[in-house]
Amino acid sequence: MLPKRTLGKIDMEVSILGLGTVKLGRNEGVKYPQSFKIPDDKEAAALIGLAKDSGINLIDTAPAYGNSEQRLGKLLKGQRQDWLICTKVGEEFINGESRYDFSPEHARRSVERSLRRLNTDVLDIVLIHSDGNDEEILQRHGTLSALAELKKEGKIRAIGMSTKTVEGGLLAAELGDVVMITWNLQYDDEIAVADYCHQHGKGVLIKKALASGHSTSDPKRGGNTADNPIKQCFEMIFAHPGVSSAIVGTINPEHLRANISAI
Ligand SMILES: NC(=O)c1ccc[n+]([C@@H]2O[C@H](COP(=O)([O-])OP(=O)(O)OC[C@H]3O[C@@H](n4cnc5c(N)ncnc54)[C@H](OP(=O)(O)O)[C@@H]3O)[C@@H](O)[C@H]2O)c1
Repeated sequence: MLPKRTLGKIDMEVSILGLGTVKLGRNEGVKYPQSFKIPDDKEAAALIGLAKDSGINLIDTAPAYGNSEQRLGKLLKGQRQDWLICTKVGEEFINGESRYDFSPEHARRSVERSLRRLNTDVLDIVLIHSDGNDEEILQRHGTLSALAELKKEGKIRAIGMSTKTVEGGLLAAELGDVVMITWNLQYDDEIAVADYCHQHGKGVLIKKALASGHSTSDPKRGGNTADNPIKQCFEMIFAHPGVSSAIVGTINPEHLRANISAI
């Protein structure tokens, strides 16, 4: 079974590998190296079953991931207690385009909608889905305060931001409970955010650990770390004591198995 780590100072034990679900809900306007077919319900249920049986308990979704939230609401029926659900606010994907609304009113409406879609009365983690202007969103829009109110009301357990800049990551870590940052073999600019989070008891989730599929293994190569970019990447990321989990997106059960065995 996969090991678990505590999410900062939050009372939440997350598996070190989480399941990203962009590809369960959306296949347009994405930057993956290959085009793909969205899995049907049977395929998605098998993937989620495999993840759960392997010890994965963290699943990441967002309103911007097409119908990912609605699908998870159905797919996780009867197993809600086995999962920690992370979703987001601020980005919507409408008619093939991303649109952003970081107003407190939208954040509240979005959270209420996520609760309905995900068929639950509490969301474990809700992050602001940044458009890149991390600091401006945190300083001027009141999104995080709206999430803090929803947390007080018991609708959310932990709040934070999925950031795109070092400065924004540091500010999100100061103000929230959790930050989701990018870290992979090609890009390590945001390590400073993980360092800060470790020092201050904030949770760190890693997105794009495999550079959205641009740094994955050649199956013809051996299983040695030196030949296997997935192993290299996981060794690098999980050596950091502040990192709680890497949210890796896959719809391929063989890839999920390979990622688990790389750990
Ligand atoms: N702003 C944000 O908040 C934000 C942005 C990006 C991502 N995220 C979250 O982070 C998650 C991960 O990010 P991501 O999906 O962009 O990038 P990623 O996890 O780095 O890479 C996912 C890609 O790698 C491929 N892959 C996974 N395991 C593989 C393996 N063993 N061998 C070969 N290919 C493999 C997947 O293809 P297959 O499906 O074929 O395995 C998929 O195309 C997302 O699903 C989402 O939940 C959040």
